[in-house]
Amino acid sequence: MSSAPAAPSRLISAYRGVRPAITPVWFMRQAGRSLPEYHEVRKGHSMLESCLTPELAAEITLQPVRRHGVDAAIFYSDIVIPLKLAGVGVEIAPGRGPVFDKPVRTAADVAALPTLTVDDLAPVAAGVARTVEGLTAIGDGSTPLIGFAGAPFTLAAYLVEGGPSKEHLAARTLMHADPDAWAQLMAWAADASGLFLRAQVLAGASAAQLFDSWAGSLSLADYVTHVAPASARALSHIADLQVPTVHFGVGTGELLPAMRDVGADVVGVDWRIPLDEGIRRLGGTVPVQGNIDPALLAAPWPVLEAHVRDVLARGTAAPAHVLNLGHGVPPETDPGVLTRIVELVHSAPSEGRE
Ligand code: CP3
Repeated sequence: MSSAPAAPSRLISAYRGVRPAITPVWFMRQAGRSLPEYHEVRKGHSMLESCLTPELAAEITLQPVRRHGVDAAIFYSDIVIPLKLAGVGVEIAPGRGPVFDKPVRTAADVAALPTLTVDDLAPVAAGVARTVEGLTAIGDGSTPLIGFAGAPFTLAAYLVEGGPSKEHLAARTLMHADPDAWAQLMAWAADASGLFLRAQVLAGASAAQLFDSWAGSLSLADYVTHVAPASARALSHIADLQVPTVHFGVGTGELLPAMRDVGADVVGVDWRIPLDEGIRRLGGTVPVQGNIDPALLAAPWPVLEAHVRDVLARGTAAPAHVLNLGHGVPPETDPGVLTRIVELVHSAPSEGRE
């Protein structure tokens, strides 16, 4: 089984705060519905079945690397996979997202959650190993794989609600109505996330991203008190493995320094604040990832090109910058536009500070 590529890639250099000559670029949700080859492979397989079948997960992960020449693969899986493997009743409803058989609303519900074990994660480890092997055959063979997990709050936002929600009211109510049950739930979710990350890194992932997609619905005080310690606990599961870590959420302009303090090496910024303002809020010392507005993927090319160039220019205020979207690729995106962004970013010199 081959291990991580020998030469340090652009992505890993940038994640470690060393600005490469060319800005690395990848896209959140680059694997998936924007690609016709994805629809082809998915025929007859549910989302979760595809994630848990190592050959399918590896093939789907590699598709955008082959097509776009992005600087990273991100493992095709889902934030609810560790929950599913622990034995929690969950499915992904097409067009909606994760839906649970039974919401987790009380201390007794929390206590009844099944414990995830390392053995449960065998299909994930097998999928990652197969992906890393496959990456050696694409381009110069040095494209790294990013592993990921949902952060405890984002998992709890689904578990407590029982499915997708706008404001995550039930989760935010439980946080205050029963802080002990909440803390138990966050500890459980942190360990599930942490084990999921650890399985991916041990199987060959070269970096790890913690998605706290819905943290933007929290006040700073609630984030710091009721959420950040659990996110730190999730990351602590891979601290000894020494891979760079990225922490990302949507609508988290007010939380950026607190998200950095959780202990990630890189902070992801969504499109709501200018990237240089995000860098300023982070004290100018942290590598950043972001923050193309996904809405502009459907705008005329000159409009999008100007936006990409503007984001690249703003990113020079950080020690290093990885170009990405401010959130995931919308399913209706023309994949040719993503390839064109990669070409543009790779042809633009990275003129940041040393
Ligand atoms: O390319 C990649 O980024 C890797 C794959 C990936 C998926 N889910 C595949 C997926 C990643 C990193 C995720 C993480 C994830 N899942 C998050 C955090 C990232 C984010 O977008 O904020 C969240 C909140 C989820 C929960 C979830 N799973 C949602 C909201 C959905 C979309 C529902 C829909 O159909 O619109 C899913 C399903 C899902 N996960 C799809 C994909 C490609 C689409 C389902 C399909 O293809 O049938």
